[in-house]
Amino acid sequence: MYNSRITGLGKYVPENVVTNDDLKEWMDTSDEWIQERTGIQERRWIDPETSDDTTSIMGAKAAKIAIERAGLTKDDIDFIVFATLSPDMYFPGGGVRVQELLEMDTIGAIDVRNQCSGFIYGLSVADQFIKTGMYKHVLVIGSENHSGGLERSTRGRAVTVIFGDGAGAAVLSREEDTTRGVLSTHLHSEGKHAKELSLEGPSTGRWVDAIMEDNDPEDVSYYPYMNGQFVFKHAVVRFSEAIIEGLKTNNLQKEDIDMLIPHQANLRISQFIQKKFGLGNDQVYNNIMRYGNTTAASIPIALTEAWEEGKIKEGDNVVLAAFGSGFTWGSAIIKW
Ligand code: UT7
Repeated sequence: MYNSRITGLGKYVPENVVTNDDLKEWMDTSDEWIQERTGIQERRWIDPETSDDTTSIMGAKAAKIAIERAGLTKDDIDFIVFATLSPDMYFPGGGVRVQELLEMDTIGAIDVRNQCSGFIYGLSVADQFIKTGMYKHVLVIGSENHSGGLERSTRGRAVTVIFGDGAGAAVLSREEDTTRGVLSTHLHSEGKHAKELSLEGPSTGRWVDAIMEDNDPEDVSYYPYMNGQFVFKHAVVRFSEAIIEGLKTNNLQKEDIDMLIPHQANLRISQFIQKKFGLGNDQVYNNIMRYGNTTAASIPIALTEAWEEGKIKEGDNVVLAAFGSGFTWGSAIIKW
């Protein structure tokens, strides 16, 4: 048996900064409301006038950095796991585009569709492939282009102000020492709440021609919908459960956590979890202030920044936790 270990991390965010005040161009909102409820100050939105970025392109850019930092080349990678809710195309997924963009050999590529939990699900998939000995180096990418699909109006403001674009990537490599690396991952779902945070159409449940035919100005089925307070209430419970499950599995106490990287859904959720687990400001990494909620990209971007800033050291117990649409949630316990 082997373990998997993160050997390289990378991130990419579009250049275009959109501040809370900038959003007033499209909707009735305020910097005060957004900061008070979410902690967000600004986010990155692809500017199609000045940039060719797409979900796959951003993912490939982050991946390139992660591969270099792992001391590897694209030819060392055995498999791609690509997590997103906003693929360039309805099908195929983004993984195959990364294979093409990075000019990789014809290695396998799988897409993970678990929204905010996408990176943890992807990490878990990669970890299993490595633990069984099938692959040696697996690329895990989380990337999102939200800005193209958000409703830029007062009607959509409760969702639109929250989400941002960006990508993060990690290289997972075989580790012979099974006391380090990814110690365990924990995945959960509860599909009965699928509609509470969802985008209905276009899909096989609501094809494009049905949407066009209705031509209903009130139809918002092709914009993301979120029952904010309902999601919030479930998030705080499930985040905690997933962290406790991970700690218990590894005989760790909350005092053993050196760094918690929560999915960046809302600064208030992170602060609630921080308080609940009695963690100091240096034990929880947040960057939602600068990027908003980047869904599958949020954990790998935060992990990359925490590592770049020297906040994660060898031997640290690093905890990743996420909750989101599905509902899906999960955690990963890593001995760095
Ligand atoms: O990443 C996946 C998981 N996601 C989450 O965990 C998100 C969980 N939910 C949340 O973070 C919060 O519910 C939100 C930040 C989305 C919303 O905050 P809230 O405190 O739940 O606000 P609300 O939706 O209940 O809206 C309160 C008021 C409403 O006005 P009235 O009806 O009280 O007059 C909204 O119309 O705030 C209004 N509002 C806004 N006002 C200014 C909603 N969005 C905005 C806005 N600017 N952008």
